[in-house]
Amino acid sequence: MSAHDPQDPTQSPMLSNAARVAEGQRPPNWVPIKEQYAYTPRKIRMICVGAGLAGLSLAHMIKHEMKDNEFLDYTIYDKNAEVGGVWYENKYPGVACDLAAHTYVFRFEPNPDWSHFYVSGAEIYEYIQKTVRKWGLDEHVELNSKIIESRWDEDSGKWKVKIDQNGTIKEDEAEILVNGMGLVNEWKMPDINGLYDFKGKLVHTATWDESYDWKGKRVAVIGNGSAGIQVVTTMHPETSKLVNYVRNPTWLTPNVNAEMTPDGSNFAYTPEERERFRNDPKAFFELRKELENHVNGASYATLKEHAFQDLMRGEAKRIMEERFKDLKLDPAVAARMIPDFPAGCRRLTPEIGYLRSFASENTEMCWDEIEQITETGIRTKNGEEEFDMIICATGYNTSARPHWNHVGRNGRVLTGDLEGFFSVQIDDMPNYFMIGGPNFLISHGTVYSAIAFACEYALKWIKKIATEDIKSLDVRKESVDDYNVWSQEYLKRTAFSGDCSSWYKNGKSKGFVNAYAGTTSHFRKSLQRIGGEHFNIKYNSANRFSYLGNGQMEEENQGFGDLSDYFVQGVWGP
Ligand SMILES: Cc1cc2nc3c(=O)[nH]c(=O)nc-3n(C[C@H](O)[C@H](O)[C@H](O)COP(=O)(O)OP(=O)(O)OC[C@H]3O[C@@H](n4cnc5c(N)ncnc54)[C@H](O)[C@@H]3O)c2cc1C
Ligand SMILES: NC(=O)c1ccc[n+]([C@@H]2O[C@H](COP(=O)([O-])OP(=O)(O)OC[C@H]3O[C@@H](n4cnc5c(N)ncnc54)[C@H](OP(=O)(O)O)[C@@H]3O)[C@@H](O)[C@H]2O)c1
Repeated sequence: MSAHDPQDPTQSPMLSNAARVAEGQRPPNWVPIKEQYAYTPRKIRMICVGAGLAGLSLAHMIKHEMKDNEFLDYTIYDKNAEVGGVWYENKYPGVACDLAAHTYVFRFEPNPDWSHFYVSGAEIYEYIQKTVRKWGLDEHVELNSKIIESRWDEDSGKWKVKIDQNGTIKEDEAEILVNGMGLVNEWKMPDINGLYDFKGKLVHTATWDESYDWKGKRVAVIGNGSAGIQVVTTMHPETSKLVNYVRNPTWLTPNVNAEMTPDGSNFAYTPEERERFRNDPKAFFELRKELENHVNGASYATLKEHAFQDLMRGEAKRIMEERFKDLKLDPAVAARMIPDFPAGCRRLTPEIGYLRSFASENTEMCWDEIEQITETGIRTKNGEEEFDMIICATGYNTSARPHWNHVGRNGRVLTGDLEGFFSVQIDDMPNYFMIGGPNFLISHGTVYSAIAFACEYALKWIKKIATEDIKSLDVRKESVDDYNVWSQEYLKRTAFSGDCSSWYKNGKSKGFVNAYAGTTSHFRKSLQRIGGEHFNIKYNSANRFSYLGNGQMEEENQGFGDLSDYFVQGVWGP
């Protein structure tokens, strides 16, 4: 046999690339060994949209929970003048969280000082501000900065982003784009003839004007979602007339966690109770866990065939009928107000005194369709009512589509009902993570927890991108399709898919349901288990394993560190 000559192709036509390397050749995927420890992260940059609960949770995780966060440079842009999102923006009378306050906290900042079991929006905003100061969460935040464009650039593997900062356009770029713009942040005025002809005060609940004195005035409220119900209940005693224009019935339920209150309604914590929360962390933790468990139980209550749904619907019906009796309401009106769809089809709203409002002489509910808004008021088939103020409690665009010019791989723009991947990713959008995207877990679990799980997920994959020299990672179309087919089938079992108009169907009664298909635990564990098989991955290097570096791990310290970190007590011996 003649000696093997690696440079002679006639002698080795079938050699694998690896065999060619062994022979001293350099096939296309050959790269030199990187003289660095395996998994050494490259420096990357991240842009996050929004400094609401999502952006702030992410900031905390990067700054205080990720031990090796030096590789990640980032900026969080928010269009507002302050952080806090919803809780900075919403200042309408009655704005409050209808979950027990102890379940509505950052997981790293339990708050023994809540004044009440349920608290106002102002108190939540104060808590957020205090938390931001304590943990330095605004270090990387730029305010008054509205994202107006984000465009994926395949060559550089970066998002090119334009930000409007008070009229000056800043350009920025980053390997990673995180969208924490909020699912209920783009408020929506109703499409009603003549709306802008109105010469009185016109507001949306999300754009409240605190300088306007509405007391003693004639007020119209359009909508009976959570915001409309809060506004009507709070404002009516101090207006000269209030008319609530509604189109559809809605379930009014007992308060969330009512069984943990003395009589089902809100109460103030005593100084002694707050002292106990501070001084007995174990008991405080147990109380919070019990509340969290209960809120997460809402997932079961939304299942049409579950006993919790019967219980909730039965309780809501009982409460509503009791009120109707007290109010001596016309049975025809009362019958119209009891929904025939499952409880939870529209977002559940506790009966905080809304129905009682209509016992007041100055307060009415109007079911007639609004034909026209005039310069002085609202016209229905029964004539025109004059008003000084019209409040549109008409909700949000909840499609989860970015509100700016967002262009992904191959020029893809997002249209229609978005089909995301576990609410955190979407195909053709490389290195793009959503905290609260389509089908997010927002209405049947604790939202701070859901946000934390989505942030953990994003950071896990961002770290993989940095440590494995990944240029781009995006979810495969087939995985998105399979996930959404499964989700929409599952969601048929839930109240969300019932026949009612709600924001879970973006204001429609039928069709694609925008809610998470599963429970809180299901969301967390599913995110934790998602594997690389669902992604298209491109690498910076010609060889995907160049990140294996010099074959050593940093903790081994060139042979002088821990060379057997797997050898731990309890595994390799008692
Ligand atoms: C009035 C109201 C009451 C609510 N009450 C409850 C409740 O009781 N319980 C509950 O669980 N949930 C409630 N929610 C839902 C609430 O949205 C979430 O609980 C939570 O606030 C979501 O946080 P987030 O950070 O995802 O979004 P947001 O708080 O909406 O924050 C998003 C941030 O992104 C910024 N942003 C958006 N677009 C851009 C852009 N183009 N450029 C720059 N910045 C941008 C916004 O300015 C905002 O600061 C309520 C919502 C509203 C509107
Ligand atoms: N927890 C809280 O205390 C709280 C408070 C506020 C908001 N939120 C959150 O924010 C979400 C949005 O609540 P929201 O109350 O602002 O909005 P929403 O639930 O979407 O309700 C919007 C209301 O406006 C009505 N409407 C919309 N367009 C209309 C039109 N052209 N003419 C007449 N009526 C019209 C709708 O009527 P139809 O139903 O007939 O379409 C509905 O009653 C909530 O679901 C919740 O997640 C929570």
